[in-house]
Amino acid sequence: MLNAKFELNSLKERRILLGVTGSIAAYKALELTRLLVKGGAEVRVVMTEGARKFIAPLSFETLSQNKVTTTLFSQEGGRIVHLELSDWGEVLIVAPATANLIGKFAQGVADDGLTTLLLSAQIPILIAPAMHPSLWENPITQENENKLRGLGVHFIGPIRGKLSGQDVGMGRMVEPEEILVKVNQILTRGKDLMERRVLITAGATEEVLDPIRVLTNPSSGRMGIALAEAAKGRGAEIILIHGRTSCPLPPLDEEIAVKTGEEMRKAVLRKLSEVHLLLMVAAVADYRPLHPSSTKIKERKRVTVELERVPDILSDVNKIVKNRKPVMVGFSVESENGVERAKRKLEEKGLDLIIANGPASFGSEEIDATLIGRDGELKDLPRMTKRDVAEEILDRAVEIMKSRP
Ligand SMILES: Cc1cc2nc3c(=O)[nH]c(=O)nc-3n(C[C@H](O)[C@H](O)[C@H](O)COP(=O)(O)O)c2cc1C
Repeated sequence: MLNAKFELNSLKERRILLGVTGSIAAYKALELTRLLVKGGAEVRVVMTEGARKFIAPLSFETLSQNKVTTTLFSQEGGRIVHLELSDWGEVLIVAPATANLIGKFAQGVADDGLTTLLLSAQIPILIAPAMHPSLWENPITQENENKLRGLGVHFIGPIRGKLSGQDVGMGRMVEPEEILVKVNQILTRGKDLMERRVLITAGATEEVLDPIRVLTNPSSGRMGIALAEAAKGRGAEIILIHGRTSCPLPPLDEEIAVKTGEEMRKAVLRKLSEVHLLLMVAAVADYRPLHPSSTKIKERKRVTVELERVPDILSDVNKIVKNRKPVMVGFSVESENGVERAKRKLEEKGLDLIIANGPASFGSEEIDATLIGRDGELKDLPRMTKRDVAEEILDRAVEIMKSRP
C-alpha cells in the first residue's frame, strides 16, 4: 500500500536515475522501476557488474523502455555517458546498495559506471542499503554511511526483517513503495535552501564548578547535527556553534566550538546578522555556579553551591534583530505539559516555530516531536529518526521563509 500522502502522478515527467548493485534484493529494483514508470517518471538504469549476476539488463530495459548503462566506457553521440546521465537526471537512487558500493562511494572510488556517476552527480542522491547484518553493523560500513549522510546523501533503511536464507536482522532493504514516497519528498524539497545561510547551535554546554568538574546535561548534539546534514543536502551554507557532542560532525562551512552558555551566546550574537535561518538546538545549561571554585572542592558529606541563571541567548537575539529577523526555530524539552509549555516559550522568545519533545529524546537516534507554529498549527509526528524530523522542521522553516515579504 502506498502512503496516503503520496500521489503517483507527482512523478510525472520526472527524470530518475536508478543504480542497481549486486545484492539478492536486486529483484526489488524491477518493481521500483515499474512503479516509477507507472507514476509517469522517465527512468534510466545503471547496473554494476555484480547486479548483472542477479538480473539481466533486458528486464530493466523492457520496464523502463530505456537503454541500461552497464559500463563506464560506452560512449553515445560523442558524450561520456556518466556525465550525460548526471546532467539528465533530477535524482539518483541506488537500490539496492551493497556494502561495497557504499564503501566505494564514501572513499571516492570511481571504477565503474555507477560509482563514477555517483561521484560526478550534482543532484540529490538516495541510497537504499541491502545487506546481511554482519555487513551493515560492521563499524566500517557504519562510518561510511555516517560520512555520506554528513555530505547530504539521503538514506532510506535498511530495516530489521527477514533476509535471504533463514537469517533475520537489520539489513533488509525497504519496500519499493517506501522509496517512491521518499523520492517524491526529495524531488519536492530539492535545493530549497540554496543561497541560504543557516546557523545551528548543538550539543551541551558546560559550566565550571571547579577545575575538574562541570555542570552539564546528556545532550549528544545529534538533533542539531541531523539538521546540519539535512540543510546541507538542501543547498544551505551551514554555521554550527556547538558545545560538547558525542557524534561525528558533518562537513560544515563554519564550525565554532564553545564550552559555556556565555561563549555560545556571544558566538550566536556575532554571527546573527549573517543568517537567514536560526535553529537553536543546543541544550544550554540554565544555571551556572555563582562562584566557581578555583581549587578542587574537597570531598565533604554535603556541599552547597549557589547557582545563577545563565543569560538567555534568545532574549538577546530578539533585542538585536528587531528589523531583519532570521526565521527562528527553537526546541523545548519538558517532562510534563510539553505542548503547553512549548507554546508559552514560542510566544515569550519570539520564535517562529518550536519543537516540543521529551527527555527520552536525549542521546537517542529517534525523537517524538511536535512542531508548533506561530499560527498555532500543531503537527504531532510519530517517533522518527532525528534526520527525518530534521527534514520536517526544514519543510516548515522554508514555508515560513517563503511567506516573509
Ligand atoms: C548470492 C549473493 C548475494 C549477495 N547479496 C549481497 C547483499 O545483499 N548486500 C551486499 O552488500 N553484498 C551482497 N553480496 C556481495 C556483493 O555482491 C559483492 O560485494 C560485490 O562485489 C558487489 O559489487 P557491486 O557493489 O559493484 O554491485 C552478495 C553476494 C552473493 C554471491
